[in-house]
Amino acid sequence: MNPFSLARTPELIFGAGEIVCLGECLSRLGAADVLVVVSPSAVADVEVRAGIARVFEEAGITASYVRYDSLPGTLGPFEAGQGPYREASPDVVDAVVAATDQCPQAIVAIGGGSAIDTGKALSAAFLEEGSITDYLEGVGTRAPSGRKVPFVAVPTTAGTGSEATANAVLSRQAAFKKSLRHARLVPDVALVDPGLQLSCPRAQTAASGLDAITQLLEAYLSRTATPFTDALALDGLAAAGRSFLPAVERGDSDVGARAGMAYAAWLSGVCLANAGLGTVHGLAGAAGALAPVPHGVFCGALLPHVVERTIEAVSRRRDGSGVLSKIAAAGRALSSQSGGSLEAQMHLLVDRLVEFARVADLPRLSEYGMDTALARVIAEAGNNKQHPHEFDVDERYELLERAL
Ligand SMILES: [Fe+2]
Repeated sequence: MNPFSLARTPELIFGAGEIVCLGECLSRLGAADVLVVVSPSAVADVEVRAGIARVFEEAGITASYVRYDSLPGTLGPFEAGQGPYREASPDVVDAVVAATDQCPQAIVAIGGGSAIDTGKALSAAFLEEGSITDYLEGVGTRAPSGRKVPFVAVPTTAGTGSEATANAVLSRQAAFKKSLRHARLVPDVALVDPGLQLSCPRAQTAASGLDAITQLLEAYLSRTATPFTDALALDGLAAAGRSFLPAVERGDSDVGARAGMAYAAWLSGVCLANAGLGTVHGLAGAAGALAPVPHGVFCGALLPHVVERTIEAVSRRRDGSGVLSKIAAAGRALSSQSGGSLEAQMHLLVDRLVEFARVADLPRLSEYGMDTALARVIAEAGNNKQHPHEFDVDERYELLERAL
């Protein structure tokens, strides 16, 4: 067995109804005064909102709220409607720090990946000098110190796995989409309550779920995968295989399906942090700053094409048998079927991904304004990360063109 290491993971509290543990968990962190970063859609349900407020009240915790998608003072914490920012923004992070008189004793993020990334970046920003943009990979010139305010992540979508990772992805539209990263920036606690995900809308459930599936598959096939990440990724794919369709089709009532996808998303975060990702995310990183396509939609639209082309390319290689047998294992896991030839099992994977994308009713990438010229720019700016096959720029362009 090759040597490998395991990045630190947060303390995990997992289960329907476990949100009631939030107060106790903050008390253990010594926090009586917390800043709560929310996605407005995550707390749109009046009962959910009241339940969260009650948890703070019962624990004697003072909470102030900020929306991840709006600058302080521009919109109230629970005001309906979309703020000006779609993704986690360094400008929002800087503005929240500037507008806060006293550093909070803890930060809680309740929402999707963007809210969690905003909370994670804030947990560092309160203790670093200057703008958070100065600490972004490939943009800034300073390295994060790793110092942070205690941070609790409460995901209300099952997708990015940000609740398990040490990086926050921050974007400035038409400029960059980059990570703030330090091993110590993993949340102190990930509180994953699938009950909070019942109100996640169908389209968002589908897109987020496809992001998690992409991350599990890319980490599993990664050139830097380990036996440890392989075990977790396969279990995550099996959970997603059982749970994706019911979570999309009856997500407002099927808490078991929500739990399956929440578990898959958590594992996807652990796996990507330790094994890396592949071509879909290598292109998504470049696309994120250039095209307003939601990350999960981009991943879900591209993944079946990338898997199909990977099978074709690796089948022509003499050293490809290990990758092909992993693709077949992923096909068995995601489809819950085990019979047939290696080839049939590999195609089970493609068929299942095509089916998931169809049920998700994903828009074409052209519906977000992506055209062939932009696809060319993304193909050139993107890369393959740790994908088991090195697609060249023309091949990456063809993959994008298929999803336009
Ligand atoms: Fe992703």
